[in-house]
Amino acid sequence: MQFTGSSSFPFHLKLIIVLLGTFCDADPRISEAGQVCGTNMTLPSIIIPQYTKEMQVITQLVSEHGWGSSYAVNSTDISIYALANCYQDLPPNDCVQCFLISCSKLPTCLPAVSGRVYLDGCFIRYDYYNFFGETTDSFKDKVNCSSSFGRAVTDSDQVALAAAAGNLIENVTKKAINESDGYAVGKLNGIYGLAQCWRTVSKQGCRECLDKASEAIKGCLPNRDARALMTGCYLRYSTHNFLIHHSQATNKGLSKGVIIVIVFAMIAFSMLFLFVAYVARKKSLKRKQECINLGKISNSYKRSSLNFKYENLEKATNYFDPSTIVGQGGNGSVYMGTLPNGKVVAVKRLFFNTRHWVDEFFNEVNLIHGIEHKNLVKLLGCSIEGPESLLVYEFVPNKSLDQYLDDKNKIKVLSWKERLHILVGTAEGLAFLHGGSDMKIIHRDIKSSNVLLDENFEAKIADFGLARCLEADKTHLSTGIAGTLGYMAPEYLVKGQLTEMADVYSYGVLVLEIVCGRKNISLADDDSGYLLQTVWKLYTTNQVTKALDPILKDDFSPEEVSKVLKVGLLCTQASVTLRPSMSDVVQMLTTFGQPIPEPCQPPFLRSSSSIKRFVSDTLSKLDESCISSAMHSSSDGPHIN
Ligand SMILES: *[C@@H]1O[C@H](CO)[C@@H](O)[C@H](O)[C@H]1NC(C)=O
Ligand SMILES: *[C@@H]1O[C@H](CO)[C@@H](O)[C@H](O)[C@H]1NC(C)=O
Ligand SMILES: *[C@@H]1O[C@H](CO)[C@@H](O)[C@H](O)[C@H]1NC(C)=O
Ligand SMILES: *[C@@H]1O[C@H](CO)[C@@H](O)[C@H](O)[C@H]1NC(C)=O
Ligand SMILES: *[C@@H]1O[C@H](CO)[C@@H](O)[C@H](O)[C@H]1NC(C)=O
Repeated sequence: MQFTGSSSFPFHLKLIIVLLGTFCDADPRISEAGQVCGTNMTLPSIIIPQYTKEMQVITQLVSEHGWGSSYAVNSTDISIYALANCYQDLPPNDCVQCFLISCSKLPTCLPAVSGRVYLDGCFIRYDYYNFFGETTDSFKDKVNCSSSFGRAVTDSDQVALAAAAGNLIENVTKKAINESDGYAVGKLNGIYGLAQCWRTVSKQGCRECLDKASEAIKGCLPNRDARALMTGCYLRYSTHNFLIHHSQATNKGLSKGVIIVIVFAMIAFSMLFLFVAYVARKKSLKRKQECINLGKISNSYKRSSLNFKYENLEKATNYFDPSTIVGQGGNGSVYMGTLPNGKVVAVKRLFFNTRHWVDEFFNEVNLIHGIEHKNLVKLLGCSIEGPESLLVYEFVPNKSLDQYLDDKNKIKVLSWKERLHILVGTAEGLAFLHGGSDMKIIHRDIKSSNVLLDENFEAKIADFGLARCLEADKTHLSTGIAGTLGYMAPEYLVKGQLTEMADVYSYGVLVLEIVCGRKNISLADDDSGYLLQTVWKLYTTNQVTKALDPILKDDFSPEEVSKVLKVGLLCTQASVTLRPSMSDVVQMLTTFGQPIPEPCQPPFLRSSSSIKRFVSDTLSKLDESCISSAMHSSSDGPHIN
């Protein structure tokens, strides 16, 4: 489901917006001056309900103060920030009306990660990062040299207009910068002007923004009307008096028309909300059917030793002090904590609440708890009665493998022996998940940040088994979509086919990364981007050992290196049936003289920029495939049987 284009926008809502206009005789200045949507990334659909909630918060704020900003979920990979700001000459009722209309236009930008709508009376924006102090953006700032009032024709008119407009612009921008609310209007020789900085922008920022806006808007002369649509401000001049005449703006309270407008707006809102909720619901319907259990928290949970008290975990992590954060995942932040008995644990604070499916969640925790292997991070228990759901894991001190690959903050160089040991351990852990116990678990998110290292540099796989109730961390934005997708098997990425062979593929990518000492996809736009391709090329020309991390110098055996790289290539073959099972991989890596089949070509993507394009093209498909994999999780989901 996508929201792109106004055609999918609910018809009723459009109707109501048209009605809104006819009920009001004041001028809320609702004509659109411009809309800018982000282009190159999309939001994951799970954030959409959050977006709707935020708009409701902002509605409240705007109706009280004339502006409002809000944000959510800043502790995880995805956040959403929103800001709405009426230009201050609008009386409160008009402001609310203008806001509601801008707010109804904004979702046409979804599912892009950002959107802005400038009306002539107000501004609204959402984005995936904290933009509140932002003032200018050379890509997105625009001017609208409107032709609605024509242009000055004769030379003398043009000169007069330019002089008057120039003075007026200087006058209003100076005044706006000096005012605490960043707003000023003015009138000079029949020209009207308005400058408004967003309320979240600092005085200095307001100055920068308006300076740039004045420069830009002068480019519209000799037009009689123009607007600068900036990241941190709005500036307009016009020969038409568009300013609200405050003598007319009465304070007689809500008129009948306004009440009708508000009632309609509320209906519009609830419809938008229902529509969005419907979409979100459709997605998680099956999952919820499995997981929802509105009954009371089961007694078995209360008595269980897996039940951690929320207060204890709160104290253990010093009330979730940010300095105790040791990791970030798609489902929440991970804190280090010390329990009253002195035991050090890792506490994962889930970003969405599991209260509605407590029993199901607890059952899974119970099952996963039973899985013990030296290469798997042990789940100790959970807390589901407090305000947030928490998972408690054993603490693994040496951080995650990706931090040993990171060029900038590399912790230490792993020797060849250590790397091989880590790869064998990871393979053993995965083989165990795939079939070593009574249950079969597909991890579906194997990557270097999910492989932790203990005090002896033994690999421990994290974050497995709960995927049925939690989202797999694949559409999250800040760590880079491409980063996580670089590990995804092509059949899973494109068709949503999930078998343990998807884990084998991700493992293969991990092998190549660890041996070569760099990430599969570097986000830099050079052609060194795609590691799989580089290794394959070297392999076909018999120089595969050249792919080895150059930092290792002579401390390795060339036979071992080429064997391990060959195994990595075997795991990343495009054909699912050709990939070895994880137990085969363990055999190949640990048994001397074990014959290793010839690998076929891995799936190719020419460069990292083509990967980005591919990623954005497939994201919509991916979204659908996630739904279908959630829908069929009893047959092909990450499952336990
Ligand atoms: C510029 O503003 C006018 C008047 O509101 C509007 O009709 C027009 O669509 C705007 N132009 C763009 C490119 O948005
Ligand atoms: C998206 O485009 C903007 C410029 O329009 C650029 O700054 C940003 O880095 C791009 N993001 C990605 C992931 O390509
Ligand atoms: C997250 O939100 C809290 C307030 O709820 C704020 O104090 C904190 O600075 C925010 N963190 C980030 C990284 O934005
Ligand atoms: C604005 O313009 C008016 C009229 O020209 C002038 O009297 C006033 O001093 C100007 N104010 C500023 C801050 O430039
Ligand atoms: C700035 O505002 C103060 C009062 O708020 C006023 O005294 C001063 O004249 C203003 N300066 C300009 C340049 O408008």
